[in-house]
Amino acid sequence: MQMNHRTRTNILAGMMAGAIILFFPVAALADDNGQKAQAGEQIDAYEAVALANRDNCWRCHHLTKKKEGPSYKAVAEKYRGKPEAIDKLVKHITLGKDVIKLSDGHEELHKFDKKRPPEEIRNLILYILAQ
Ligand code: HEC
Repeated sequence: MQMNHRTRTNILAGMMAGAIILFFPVAALADDNGQKAQAGEQIDAYEAVALANRDNCWRCHHLTKKKEGPSYKAVAEKYRGKPEAIDKLVKHITLGKDVIKLSDGHEELHKFDKKRPPEEIRNLILYILAQ
């Protein structure tokens, strides 16, 4: 088949239509599931939970129950209506300078993998604050 201008235009149009069909449902889904953060940012709850899994946050935190650390619901309540909490908590976790004392008496740093992209960490904090 010879590729004339028209064929090429049709292929391009087809690709664009495909892209629209592909992207539209994803955007719609994110809208359905995404909760609005205090700052009005979109939260990817799935990514937030996956990150908390990888970094073992659940070892000490539960969504609603107190474990070694406060429940994320309690954290959200503490900072409700305080948008500056987002940056504060991102720093609190990424800088890893805060020593936490556990119930068995030993102490460790409340730290995080610093190589994580900052927007992923921010997303997790937004998720916690939306509980
Ligand atoms: C070894 C146990 C432990 C692990 C693991 C842990 N935390 Fe915590 N976390 C604590 C304790 C204890 C506190 C309360 C003391 C404090 O605020 O430093 C706390 C407090 C917090 C707070 C509230 C801070 C505030 O200012 O009120 C947030 C948010 C938090 N943790 C997020 C996380 C995230 C995200 C992870 C995973 C990367 C994580 N924690 C992993 C024990 C832990």
